[in-house]
Amino acid sequence: MTTCSFVVSCASNTLRFCKSFQHKNLYTSPALLHCWSKAHLELFRSLLVVKPSARQRYRPSRTLSSSSTIFSGERNCKCCTTTEEEHKVQEPPFSGKSESFNDWTTRDSAKVRIKTILEQGEKLVDKNVTIQGWIRSIRDQKKFAFLVVNDGSCLSGLQIFVESTLQSYEEVKSLLTGSSVSVSGKLVHSIGKGQFYELQAEEVRILGDCDASYPLQKKRHSFEYLRRIAHLRPRTNTFGAVMRVRSMLAFATHCFFQENGFVYIHSPIITSSDCEGAGEMFRVLTEPGKSLNDARREDAKNFFGIPTFLTVSGQLSAEAYSCALRDVYTFGPAFRAEYSNTTKHLSEFWMVEPEMAFANLQDDMNNAESYVKFVIQYVLEKCKEDIDFFDRFIQNGLKSRLHKYIEKPFARISYSEAVEILQNSGNPFQFPVSWGEDLATEHERYLAEEYFDHPVFVYNYPAAIKAFYMKNNDHDSGKTVAAMDLLVPRIGELIGGSEREDRLDVLEQKMHQLGLKAENYWWYLDLRRFGSVPHAGYGLGFERLVLFVTGMENIRDVIPFPRFPGSAEF
Ligand code: 4AD
Ligand code: MG
Repeated sequence: MTTCSFVVSCASNTLRFCKSFQHKNLYTSPALLHCWSKAHLELFRSLLVVKPSARQRYRPSRTLSSSSTIFSGERNCKCCTTTEEEHKVQEPPFSGKSESFNDWTTRDSAKVRIKTILEQGEKLVDKNVTIQGWIRSIRDQKKFAFLVVNDGSCLSGLQIFVESTLQSYEEVKSLLTGSSVSVSGKLVHSIGKGQFYELQAEEVRILGDCDASYPLQKKRHSFEYLRRIAHLRPRTNTFGAVMRVRSMLAFATHCFFQENGFVYIHSPIITSSDCEGAGEMFRVLTEPGKSLNDARREDAKNFFGIPTFLTVSGQLSAEAYSCALRDVYTFGPAFRAEYSNTTKHLSEFWMVEPEMAFANLQDDMNNAESYVKFVIQYVLEKCKEDIDFFDRFIQNGLKSRLHKYIEKPFARISYSEAVEILQNSGNPFQFPVSWGEDLATEHERYLAEEYFDHPVFVYNYPAAIKAFYMKNNDHDSGKTVAAMDLLVPRIGELIGGSEREDRLDVLEQKMHQLGLKAENYWWYLDLRRFGSVPHAGYGLGFERLVLFVTGMENIRDVIPFPRFPGSAEF
């Protein structure tokens, strides 16, 4: 019954989109409600008006079948074998609006974000508004002063014009960079260069002043320096932009999967199984009655009765739910106790892990390609100002590269082909390339950055270098597994995934060979014992995605408070 109603609901979403597209009149679908906003629908609409030739260049995706149904106008439902007509299930439209539950937005209607002013200024010109934020700069011109205030809602600050007749003028003009203020006044068109609008201050309230020891002065600071003041760095242009893009990527992630009928699963953070089998886990211990300062001492007693760790991946849990709900995803933190002091490793990072039942490696790659393209396009549309900033100050040409990535299909080559390309490259790699060895970052980057200059899937890796759960390929008697990595320019591996070994006997044998105890994975094996189905999934390192989209170089600069060996202060 559960499966049935899920399928019907999926299909009715598809139908609603088909109908709304036919009528060029988009309206609320149940899936939309999961996304809390119409923003993605606008994007969806914009995707629909892409030139047909560009659209056709996308590979057909199993999970994007709803969109391809829309494009082609087919009558058959892709979720099941019935026709659209059988899915005319009416669901009542959602009646609530986000504002009705948020009285804080309406409490003081004059209070506006600077982003709102800069985007919708015309509506607000000659009106009284109040903004709050932190002073970025102050120019004292004797009879008047200009402040630039930034509130983090967007990259740009708002210019404030303060006349000397203002009661608090003397106090205001002696404020330093970093002070926080609340300014009320009339919004006007600016006659000065560099901005459309400015605020003529009628009242400036000083919320918190700031002395000259403020570590963020009006100059360029190195990222190394900013890492030492991780609590203040979000007040810089770069880190503000990174965090807004990161947030939008997270939102777009939910939009993509929700729109495609995936169910969001919260996989546990405390776990007893090592998903990757690499033994790089943080142990979870209790310290009853002890203060935090003593907490570093080992405690042999364990709260859960079995050894527990912080999860390295939500995959095993996602598999269990995929083998019941079909298409699911997790999006949460993962922890790895590896001493990798590199620009692309963290001890705590976030991972997006879709898991699809009745799916093979092709489906896996199709879904991954659609997902990555979707989120890039989303951010290009929704974070224009921030992306322009990255293009100008962080990585020249970023924007055109991102456009190129979404327009052309990602390359796909087997591991054996990759080894051949690398061996024939004539490139003096630090690590030699030979069949059976894992690819190092330099190899991955050569393939994506120099050979293809484009994201590339490498699939069918040697079984010996991959995790136990990956499905043995029959065509070479299990010498390789149906695994794939997505390699992208500048970063290397962005995604790792595979078809899962769904044959109980083969899986048990693999685990035995690797010394993994079957009793520790009994429930995972049960999935193969009771109604086993082919399934596949992947994990995308969310910070690496942020690096890819922003052009930032160091993974420690795209997460609010990075954890890496020797660093967990903030
Ligand atoms: O390739 P990985 O280890 O795959 C898994 O964990 C699978 N269980 C995923 C799945 O199939 N559901 O990790 C997936 C991705 C990598 O491609 C990389 O982008 C990222 O996670 N990643 C890291 N990101 C930052 N710091 C680290 N230490 C990372 N380790 C992996
Ligand atoms: Mg991997």
